[in-house]
Amino acid sequence: MKVLALNSSARVGDVSKTEIMLDCLVQGMREAGAEVEVINLQKRKIRYCIGCFTCWTKTPGLCIHKDDMTKEIFPKFLDSDLCVLATPLYHYTINALMKTFIERTLPALQPFFEKRDGVTKHPRRHEVPLIAVISVAGFPEENVFDQLKSYVNFLFRDRLAAEIYRSSAEMLRTESTFPKIKDILEATVQGGKELVEFKMISPETLERIKKPITDFEKMAPLGNCAWQTCIDEKVTMGEFQKRKMVPRPNSIESFLAIMQEGFNPVKAGDKKMSMQYNFSGQVEGSCNFTVEQGRLTAAAGQMADPDLTVETPFEVWMDILTGKADGAQMLMEGKYTVTGQTDLLLNMDQFFGE
Ligand SMILES: Cc1cc2nc3c(=O)[nH]c(=O)nc-3n(C[C@H](O)[C@H](O)[C@H](O)COP(=O)(O)O)c2cc1C
Repeated sequence: MKVLALNSSARVGDVSKTEIMLDCLVQGMREAGAEVEVINLQKRKIRYCIGCFTCWTKTPGLCIHKDDMTKEIFPKFLDSDLCVLATPLYHYTINALMKTFIERTLPALQPFFEKRDGVTKHPRRHEVPLIAVISVAGFPEENVFDQLKSYVNFLFRDRLAAEIYRSSAEMLRTESTFPKIKDILEATVQGGKELVEFKMISPETLERIKKPITDFEKMAPLGNCAWQTCIDEKVTMGEFQKRKMVPRPNSIESFLAIMQEGFNPVKAGDKKMSMQYNFSGQVEGSCNFTVEQGRLTAAAGQMADPDLTVETPFEVWMDILTGKADGAQMLMEGKYTVTGQTDLLLNMDQFFGE
């Protein structure tokens, strides 16, 4: 099978979640024996369709523009058995670059009118490849893709072989050891294999690919703190992710949310621990964590008999959490106190992080 994969993301490398998902799909397709070419549309010159209809009249099937679309991408598109369209979700639909590509496939149609399924259409000039659509979105709900889904289903009809939609995509990391993330990426590789072998992706595999990572209640406090941290530190979200920065909590609720999100059950294994935090200063109050059987339970308030108790000004702890202050130094300077199994503090990375 000859596959052309077109990536319209504005970002490249690991910060691009479109690229992360497409890389997995392509890996699976190659493992199943397909010949796959990936083209990053950002790196090609593709002019807008100017609506002259020259491709329908004076030069049937040939666009007036002499750019990379006419010279390279369109011929490769027609020559492929399957074309993967990989696009980020922008304003609830495909992004402008993918739309530009789609508009420039006009030469594949003829000008005449015909009615199919009660709708006026143009007949195809060429046999077009099967299409697989893959899209990623920042929001957590799957229905964020409803407009995109409706559009691609209407447009590609019987040629649409597969649709992959990944919400909460900003949480994807190639090297992640979080079981949920690993399984999504592995399932996407599997999806690529199935696409080549069966020209479709099974409902079981799709279910794994789109499995919820988080929900609004968990994601919003985390996301809001991450954006506020970017604003305060004057970094872009891409820089924030590359530097593996930690969102700075501004309340006990957001502290709990961030700790829960950062908990890694694979690292924790069957280790047990319980911690009590008593905050003073900017934010006053208490909260606690218990880790047991690979699960973290977080709660506001006091717990009975914790392994470790930290008494600290909220802002001091948040400086330590976000790497602005050194925990050992702050302890020596008496900025906070600990009682109980103090060595636990030195080994927090056995419970948290990728
Ligand atoms: C201009 C713009 C519009 C966006 N619109 C939406 C949107 O409507 N819904 C959503 O869930 N995410 C939206 N996002 C977030 C992206 O879908 C998300 O960041 C995705 O990971 C981008 O793909 P990339 O990682 O390949 O750049 C938008 C991002 C940008 C830059």
